[in-house]
Amino acid sequence: MANENMTGIPVHVSMIMDGNGRWAKERGKERVYGHFEGVESVRACVEAAVETGVKYLSLYAFSEENWNRPQAEVDTLMGLMVKAMANEMPALDKNGVRFMVIGNRERLSNDLNEVIDSCMAQTASNNVLTLIIFLSYSGKWDILQAAKRMAVEMLENPEKADDLLDMDINGFDRFLATAGIPDPDLIVRTSGECRLSNYLLWQGAYSELLFVDTLWPDFRKEEFRKAVEYYSKRDRRYGKVK
Ligand code: IPE
Ligand code: IPE
Ligand code: MG
Repeated sequence: MANENMTGIPVHVSMIMDGNGRWAKERGKERVYGHFEGVESVRACVEAAVETGVKYLSLYAFSEENWNRPQAEVDTLMGLMVKAMANEMPALDKNGVRFMVIGNRERLSNDLNEVIDSCMAQTASNNVLTLIIFLSYSGKWDILQAAKRMAVEMLENPEKADDLLDMDINGFDRFLATAGIPDPDLIVRTSGECRLSNYLLWQGAYSELLFVDTLWPDFRKEEFRKAVEYYSKRDRRYGKVK
């Protein structure tokens, strides 16, 4: 959803949570140890988002490409998701957090899909913060599934074909997996990598980008506040002259 936010506080902050493996390696531990510690950073960022007045916090937790990792790491990560969602949900719900998962859910296990459905249903009417986990997600997958959904709508409703072909940029938003969610004002990537790794390609068209060296397990409240402060100093022009 188009979002020309001009205020100092971002409406939607998005994180590419990277560097868990390196964080563990630096400590002579298995990569998965970094993923476990990363859950603490998620908790800290949710709290910091609520405290700073951010309304949407989204987290890139697992990309479509991440399915190509060793099976043992994929299994551990999926198990961690089930556990973390079940554990964190009571506190999130109590604090007014609405929980959502966006991605190619056909590839997720039944266990995981069940816990996601139950967490989403339990928190659906909360409105302090919307927390979105991008899971089995990629930007190209999203654009492609949107195009397919549009094609299906056209085939099923030939009388609407002209309207659909006349559609503007904003009209396409409703087919995306992120329909109804404001585009991210700020995308932060941790661990020093300066790429989007197939993240919100459409929705991030005008996002401010921040790349920090901090590894995700070390990214806590202070780092979140600094990122919001960085954002508040940006001059967003959206192609216009000020
Ligand atoms: C991010 O940390 C978590 C996921 C992508 C699932 P990584 O696992 O990519 O950690 P590094 O980048 O190898 O250090
Ligand atoms: C991007 O991190 C995906 C997530 C953070 C979920 P990766 O570690 O998978 O990205 P690449 O492989 O360095 O591009
Ligand atoms: Mg990585």
